[in-house]
Amino acid sequence: MVQIRHRDFFYICGYDNTSGVSVTSDPTGSQEIETDPRKVATILATKLPHLTERGFEVVTTPASIHDRLSHAYRAGLDTTRPEQSDPDYLTAGDPDYIDIGNLAYDMGNALHLMHEEWAGQRLELTAAYGLRIYRRGQVLRWHVDRAETHVISSIVHIDSESDEPWPLHIEDHLGVEHEVCLKPGQMLFYESATCPHARATPFAGEHFGSLFVHFKPIEGWDFTQDDIVALLKIESPTNP
Ligand SMILES: [Fe+2]
Repeated sequence: MVQIRHRDFFYICGYDNTSGVSVTSDPTGSQEIETDPRKVATILATKLPHLTERGFEVVTTPASIHDRLSHAYRAGLDTTRPEQSDPDYLTAGDPDYIDIGNLAYDMGNALHLMHEEWAGQRLELTAAYGLRIYRRGQVLRWHVDRAETHVISSIVHIDSESDEPWPLHIEDHLGVEHEVCLKPGQMLFYESATCPHARATPFAGEHFGSLFVHFKPIEGWDFTQDDIVALLKIESPTNP
């Protein structure tokens, strides 16, 4: 029996600790599955449905939302705590975290309609996480997010103090890699379960803070963890 930790597949931008890191097992008990994060991301990017043409888009955050988040960010920046994230993915240390309580979900709800309009369908808010603050030298390995719940997502960038622009590397639905540099007051819509993404270069600066919001389609998206595991089966003569 192959035991599979959820985090082996998906480091989740905006990981919602309330949903827990699940432990499951290979549904067949004998399959060999792909676990290399970069390969997993590529496989799921090609095998799961795409909901938009390109997979990501940068837009301006509504001013009222940016203002509220900026206030919370400034108020919390001197009293952060380590995020206790996954060292397999955040290989250069834990980002810091500001717990903004209900404001995270309030902002998720306020941004709900914008996400539905971008995705062209009705969505359910599944997570609102933050604020996460990256610090100097930190990186995030290539990955895709949890496919059951983190389908239509956004990085709402609030504020930063950096020596140079810090790109999110992201692959579009054609497999073309892009570098997206968000400015404070901008947000990135992206299909986080099917667009591989990373902070591939070490952050050069003092702080880089964002809120992460995640949705799933209300209809037509019923993938379970076992479904995802099945997609990652390695085909070989001994593993038909
Ligand atoms: Fe992510």
